[in-house]
Amino acid sequence: MSIYILGIESSCDDTSASVLEGTKMLSSIIANQEVHRLYGGVVPELASRAHQQNIIPVVEVALQQANITKKQLNAVAFTRGPGLLGSLLVGTSFAKAFAMGLGIPIIEVDHLKAHILSHFITDDSQKEHPEFPFLCLTVSGGHTQIVKVNSASDMEILGKTIDDAAGEAFDKAAKIMGLPYPGGPEIDKLAKAGNPRAFKFPEPKVGEMDYSFSGLKTSFLYFLRDRLKEDGNFIEKNKADLAASIQNTIISILLKKLKIAVDKTGIKQVAVAGGVSANSGLRNTMLENADKYGWKVFLPPLKFTTDNAAMIAVAGYFKYLEKDFASQDIAPYARGVFK
Ligand code: KG4
Ligand code: ZN
Repeated sequence: MSIYILGIESSCDDTSASVLEGTKMLSSIIANQEVHRLYGGVVPELASRAHQQNIIPVVEVALQQANITKKQLNAVAFTRGPGLLGSLLVGTSFAKAFAMGLGIPIIEVDHLKAHILSHFITDDSQKEHPEFPFLCLTVSGGHTQIVKVNSASDMEILGKTIDDAAGEAFDKAAKIMGLPYPGGPEIDKLAKAGNPRAFKFPEPKVGEMDYSFSGLKTSFLYFLRDRLKEDGNFIEKNKADLAASIQNTIISILLKKLKIAVDKTGIKQVAVAGGVSANSGLRNTMLENADKYGWKVFLPPLKFTTDNAAMIAVAGYFKYLEKDFASQDIAPYARGVFK
């Protein structure tokens, strides 16, 4: 018998709904919130308001595209955290009310675990999946972690950032350069025409599988401040080289620690997940490492890198099989828990 799961994602600035049949994606709808661009970052109050406006139409379209009725749904999976509390509340409240009306269970999903489990969504663009155990470098706007994935429910964090996330490093570097928000994709685009070795920035010294990106941001800021004193057009003249060099430094930091994790665990199946896994430089370097070190590398299709509800639904599907349901009095969490 088919299992239909509706996934709801509302942790940050994308309102998303998706229907899966087992792990097969039937629909995935994402409403982006353009309003934040005006402010150079996500404004929590505006995000939750936009989620409230978007959630019902987004779910309706997801059901229509999946070509099923809501009565066919077996469960509703939703992002419980981490993320912006006001935004999470919209998705959580909607999931509870919708599921209660239908008399079906709700399933809480951890956003970061869902990014990892996005590798198990099946559709035309993704037919191959990692086998357990595998390592996953999760790189998003809020988090950077190396995770040992023993099963869909058993995951161990081997290392993580002690300050900024990799996505934040991209976004902050872009902001310093005067590029629009979110800066990661802008840096990626510019870097394609630049020399990654044009400028050198220091790499941090932290715990062997941990990360730190706040020092890099500061040295980038001071470097540009000094150069701008000599030449007011320095950024404009060196845009591509600056983007390529900062991107190259971030990737180098990310992959050095990932290599340590592979060597320590002996696990050579290596995946990347999260918004920054869309970065073309990171993807290419992962493939180079596959050749160089004999890794089997898993790169998610671009549509599964940034926030989406299909990853929430697939994580929900694994929990559905375990009958791991949440109760109606569940509340979202902004940070912390990895469960
Ligand atoms: O996973 P995600 O969509 O949201 C969070 O859970 O945080 O990740 C968003 C982050 C942003 O920092 C964005 O700049 C970054 O992913 N990002 C990229 C690229 N596409 C998105 N960073 C570098 N290169 C990209 N192509
Ligand atoms: Zn995310």
